[in-house]
Amino acid sequence: MKSNEIREKYLNFFQKRGHSVIPSASLVPENDPTTLFTGSGMQPLIPYLLGQKHPMGSRLANSQKCFRADDIEEVGDNRHTTFFEMLGNWSLGDYFKQEQLAWFFEFLTQELGLSPEKLYVTVFSGDENSGIPKDEESIAIWKRLFAEKGIEAKDVELGTQEAGYEKGMQGGRIFAYDVKKNWWSRAGVPEAMPVGEPGGPDSEVFFDFGTPHDVKFGGTCHPNCDCGRFLEIGNSVFMEYKKKEDGSFEKLVQRNVDFGGGLERITAAVLGNPDVFAIDLFPHIIQEVEKLSEHSYREPASQKSFRVIADHLRAAIFIIGDGIIPSNTERGYFARRLIRRAVRHLNLLGATRRGLTSLVGAVAKTYEESYPNLLQNKENIAAVIRSEEERFKQTLEEGLKKVSKVFKAKTPIAREKFVAFMNREDKNDLLRRAYRDKRGGKKYDIKEAELTAEEIEKATLSGKEAFDMFQSYGLPVDMVLELATESSLLVDLEAYRDEFAKHQKVSRTAAAGRFKGGLADTSYETTKLHTANHLLLAALRKVLGDHVHQRGSNITAERIRLDFSHPQKVTPEELQQVEDLVSQKIQEGLNMVKREMPKEEAQKLGAEMEFGIKYGDVVSVYCAEDDKGNAFSNEFCGGPHVKNTSELGKFKIVKEEAVSAGVRRVRAVLE
Ligand code: ALA
Repeated sequence: MKSNEIREKYLNFFQKRGHSVIPSASLVPENDPTTLFTGSGMQPLIPYLLGQKHPMGSRLANSQKCFRADDIEEVGDNRHTTFFEMLGNWSLGDYFKQEQLAWFFEFLTQELGLSPEKLYVTVFSGDENSGIPKDEESIAIWKRLFAEKGIEAKDVELGTQEAGYEKGMQGGRIFAYDVKKNWWSRAGVPEAMPVGEPGGPDSEVFFDFGTPHDVKFGGTCHPNCDCGRFLEIGNSVFMEYKKKEDGSFEKLVQRNVDFGGGLERITAAVLGNPDVFAIDLFPHIIQEVEKLSEHSYREPASQKSFRVIADHLRAAIFIIGDGIIPSNTERGYFARRLIRRAVRHLNLLGATRRGLTSLVGAVAKTYEESYPNLLQNKENIAAVIRSEEERFKQTLEEGLKKVSKVFKAKTPIAREKFVAFMNREDKNDLLRRAYRDKRGGKKYDIKEAELTAEEIEKATLSGKEAFDMFQSYGLPVDMVLELATESSLLVDLEAYRDEFAKHQKVSRTAAAGRFKGGLADTSYETTKLHTANHLLLAALRKVLGDHVHQRGSNITAERIRLDFSHPQKVTPEELQQVEDLVSQKIQEGLNMVKREMPKEEAQKLGAEMEFGIKYGDVVSVYCAEDDKGNAFSNEFCGGPHVKNTSELGKFKIVKEEAVSAGVRRVRAVLE
């Protein structure tokens, strides 16, 4: 069965059950500043999950193109892709667990003909911290559904991630996992969710390919084990909770279902082949690469390169098709990384006769029916890829020379030890902790992984070394990491990101003059948020201290993103005080008064200026002040602003996070 057929069957199935089929949204989210790319079908539906009425009704379904940047390093095995299509169905305060689980089970077993014997399911085991109970209702529903197929489904508890889910299969069919595996929100676990974010327990379905367990991935196998026996093919999120300001949860105004299942993975399950790259969406491109390289996808040693090329090129084409151009910032940076890594793997296969660009047609043709825009825009997309590829090739050789020079000065970790460490699910957490300890002047052995401080230190590329490879030779960090891994070396990724952010800040500051104080436009909504940005900065200074200065700001019609100097995380209490102070100043109705004055005079007034920006001799200062002229905020600024802060409405901080060492970022909105 082909993926086109499965997509069609799915949409028909849910249409027959009262769902309106909605189109796939762009990979570039429209009103969601929280993520760079659309990574799940629910993202464009947030307002409707929160209670707004959707014009197409309370039952929706679609196939959404998705890009998950987080998975970029995993690509190369038989299951991970950065781009995928997510089949989705939603109940917006309509049906709930009974219907959802029964329908998806029916779809898999009746429509697609999967054997129920090969299906294993997971449910939420409850969470003491947030007080959300175990999902007994889903367990009961699954027991009934399996019983109807003559299968007695035993339910078992898997314990916690910390304990490695070591209890194993225990003859079970229904597995209860903790928040790490069976809770879903855009931000992840309950603890990480910002105030107002919707989420809930979920129930996932796994397909069993019956392959033997690989002990590299842990002592015992279980559905969420990474050894390759099980593949997750669908996730029903019972989205009925919302995070409250005090960190606890309240029920949303309605109970929703948010279902997502990867089309590529479902197709692999139907074919009974655990290799997602063997389904009908990849052969065109794999065959083209085979022709170019004289290697075969069947050679185990070449498979990773074929997969990286197939995945990364497909993802780059879709992203570029949605208007992104490779660059060094945000979304463009991902397009750049994807293209460059794919070029490197073409080189590894010896496929240098023709470039990556020559493969664009094969991908566009594969999607002729489902995404005809790719074929229509083929020439433009190919031109963008060609230019990026050529640029990269100019520095690649020199870059690789530099890499081997830096690598020579390091001491690799013994291969067996290194491989064992890289197979650990928690490897990134452990390393992050180790490097942080080191920065804090502590010794950084990773006892759990049996690596000593000396071994880690001698095998690690610093953030600066990795950034220099990008800065001088255009080698994206994924590629540096990949090369390091091949040589049993490590990279301090957090320090790399700090370097990267520092550099972006300098570039942004240099460009600030062109962007009117970081404003995306001068609409009324953006102008209001610009005024709120001034109040926010003044409030941060009042609550946290005078060391706080603006380090960057970006304002769109939807939100403020303000970077400022502060050495540690802002606590929830401090954030609350800041939010309250801004709200109070909105209520007081301060006038926004513009004054032109010599720079020295403005400085005497204590007006805030952004570090690194050059101001003229005569500057304009915006003062937020009451009728008697008492100013709450004075800022060097060209405007525009509203006349009075009472126009702003309700102010809310939605997120606080680190940008780099000593720089924090808050995002805030007006409701
Ligand atoms: N939103 C859920 C997911 O992405 C369905 O897994």
